[in-house]
Amino acid sequence: MIVAGVMSGTSADGINVALVRVSARGRGRTRYTHTLLGHEEYPFPGPVRRMILELMNAELARVADLARLNFLLGELYAEAVAKTARKFRAKVDLVGCHGQTLYHQGTPERFLGRKLAVTWQTGEGAVIAARLGVPVVTDFRPADIAAGGKGAPLVPFLDYLAYRDKRIGRIAQNIGGIANLTAIPAGASTDQVTAFDTGPGNMVMDAAMEELFGKRYDRDGKIAASGRVMDGVIARLLRAPFFRQKPPRTAGREEFGREYVGRFLQLCRGTSKTDVVATATALTARSIADAIQRFVLPRFGNKQQRAAQMIVSGGGTKNPTLMAMLSNEIKPLSIDLHFSDEFGLPAEAKEAIAFALLAYETWHRRPSNVPSATGAKRTAILGKISYA
Ligand SMILES: Nc1ncnc2c1ncn2[C@@H]1O[C@H](COP(=O)(O)OP(=O)(O)O)[C@@H](O)[C@H]1O
Ligand SMILES: [Mg+2]
Repeated sequence: MIVAGVMSGTSADGINVALVRVSARGRGRTRYTHTLLGHEEYPFPGPVRRMILELMNAELARVADLARLNFLLGELYAEAVAKTARKFRAKVDLVGCHGQTLYHQGTPERFLGRKLAVTWQTGEGAVIAARLGVPVVTDFRPADIAAGGKGAPLVPFLDYLAYRDKRIGRIAQNIGGIANLTAIPAGASTDQVTAFDTGPGNMVMDAAMEELFGKRYDRDGKIAASGRVMDGVIARLLRAPFFRQKPPRTAGREEFGREYVGRFLQLCRGTSKTDVVATATALTARSIADAIQRFVLPRFGNKQQRAAQMIVSGGGTKNPTLMAMLSNEIKPLSIDLHFSDEFGLPAEAKEAIAFALLAYETWHRRPSNVPSATGAKRTAILGKISYA
């Protein structure tokens, strides 16, 4: 069966599609093999990106536009899958589409007398199914929340499948808009896997670039490379409650979006623009290393610590300045840096691959959340199915 996985993350930069062939094989945990047939990325046109960012902002969001965006994204996701299928001459049988997160609050908060965790992904599955003529799984997160979890992260399902090792402790680090990791101790069973958001990924860097240089992002990390990191600012930022919060924890634009960036730029007042971007870049690298030291290494035994590996993925891997900073930060922790590409998972396609596999599980009525990663009380079959 060929499954298309579709991802568009909090960066709101575009749509990633991965075509995955999944073949049933035997029983048990590795009951199938998966092969990546191809993957493609489609940047959002400027006006679409601006609308998405606007609708993530509670004060600007209009309900009619929210309804429109749901259907528009359905069309765009369907087109992205169709184009990718044509390019790689593949016939897609099933689609798993994450959708665009407009709001995510994984920790229960009081609302009208009840404590609720909530999440909202948009991109209409019925439209995708109608255009492509195949069933589509969307809306993966609510089932985990309904089971008492934070609805995120869901990619640990793939991380465990692809990276578990008898002797080496591994950290799967994705750097999208937000940065998140999955920690898999050597020889771990699924219930020993932990995962959480470390903090900002590209989001603060991107916002600083937009604000100071009018660019979407710091291409190839050139600007950051020419600036100096303001250590005092980083130290202050890392004292924020978010970074002390014990996992599982999740973050989004609610934590590191517009308001946060406003405060960050305020703290950097009076310094050069390049230093600000360098500092935003270092914040990502340091908050990752900090989180690993606090929350991951204590779970890895001494021996594993010596052989630990970090496997990075996501758009942040395209920023060599960030990668150099990250490598420097984790070296003293005796962790080597590797790219997910070395494991057959191209950095930009990994999350899309994960949603193809999650859809495959749902289609076969099997649960795929990892409760130790999301905090759910039980496993759950994720998503909703739209039939063609
Ligand atoms: N060539 C590049 N140089 C520097 N940064 C890049 C490059 N390509 C992508 N990025 C970064 O990756 C981000 C997108 O990462 P992605 O993994 O798609 O995040 P998300 O999952 O949040 O959509 C961009 O916003 C940008 O910050
Ligand atoms: Mg993206």
